[in-house]
Amino acid sequence: MSYIRWTTGALLGVVTFACLAQAPAKKGKSDVKKQAFGNLPDGAPIELYTLSNAQGMQAGIMTYGGAVVSLTVPDRGGKYADVVLGMQDLAGYLTPVPYFGAIIGRYGNRIGKAQFTLDGKVFHLPANDAANTLHGGLKGFDKHVWKATAGSSAEGETLELTYTSQDGEEGFPGNLSAKVVYTLTAKNELKIDYTATTDKNTVVNLTNHSYFNLAGPGEGDILQHQVMIAADRFTPVDAGLIPTGELRPVKGTPFDFTKSTAIGARIGQDDEQLKLGKGYDHNWVLNKGSGGLTKAAEVHEPQTGRVMQVWTTEPALQFYTGNFLDGTLKGKGGKPYPRRGAFCMETQHYPDSPNKPAFPSTELKPGATYHTTTVYRFSAK
Ligand code: GLA
Repeated sequence: MSYIRWTTGALLGVVTFACLAQAPAKKGKSDVKKQAFGNLPDGAPIELYTLSNAQGMQAGIMTYGGAVVSLTVPDRGGKYADVVLGMQDLAGYLTPVPYFGAIIGRYGNRIGKAQFTLDGKVFHLPANDAANTLHGGLKGFDKHVWKATAGSSAEGETLELTYTSQDGEEGFPGNLSAKVVYTLTAKNELKIDYTATTDKNTVVNLTNHSYFNLAGPGEGDILQHQVMIAADRFTPVDAGLIPTGELRPVKGTPFDFTKSTAIGARIGQDDEQLKLGKGYDHNWVLNKGSGGLTKAAEVHEPQTGRVMQVWTTEPALQFYTGNFLDGTLKGKGGKPYPRRGAFCMETQHYPDSPNKPAFPSTELKPGATYHTTTVYRFSAK
């Protein structure tokens, strides 16, 4: 049973920015609650939806950037606590933050030299990461307000978010209608379905940029987390973190996570690729086997026992170890987020695919529907 209700507390007086304060989950019943989360400088209201399942898991998602602002999952003792980095309130998200929890588009990760050629025409994009375009440009999908509709499906509570990106926005061709559906399932999964259609040939690569620390946001670094990635190869990068085009075997390198290994075990090794990424910030080419929705990764945090599995229909995974966090950003509860205080697992097509014809294509044509699914599944052991 799904119901939505307004929480009026945040609307009292002249308070513009509501803080991130969630009612504790009531076990046994799933629902979606909607509350005001403040206003953008132009006055646009932003809402925070909290999806709860019957087990007590909660996902807080705001309409600004469609960002996951909180995600509570159980530890070994059955205690639910937040495992994603984020800011305390909307004002925090309006300062420069590194895509915490946000939907990334139109193109997740980098496009080299801020341009690509499609059907013989060169498209110029804003360069926002040295000479390259990162995560959709200056004003990517993470910085737009998404239209939200709460509901439920056979799997659980849902939040449907839509955004139409205009032809030429951030340099990309075609009006692109994007839809992202978050489902909090009864099985403690956050499922994300991405769809998009276009009216001109274009490129698209959508993902979510949640930063996880399974011990809790602001609870130290993630170097003890044990990671398995189902990938025999990765795409090495140049100094600008653009793939060279090579698909390099992970065997015998610090990039081999085919067997569960602590993130910190090899991150400091004298390795050219680790130096270029300042740690792990690379695209792993998933061993897809039969294709479809397959298990891409599994992470285990030994202290709390929390486990996160990542399942996806996508061919690749960007595993990023929060190398650019440096402790200056103070997040939820005012806690600083130290270097490597979180990791990201961004399911995706390979970076710079529009300029790499040998990589799986990211082109989308009118009449076709882009559709990918990623599931973050939580448990404890
Ligand atoms: C991605 C990129 C990183 C970095 C983060 C955000 O993971 O690959 O290089 O830009 O996003 O800081």
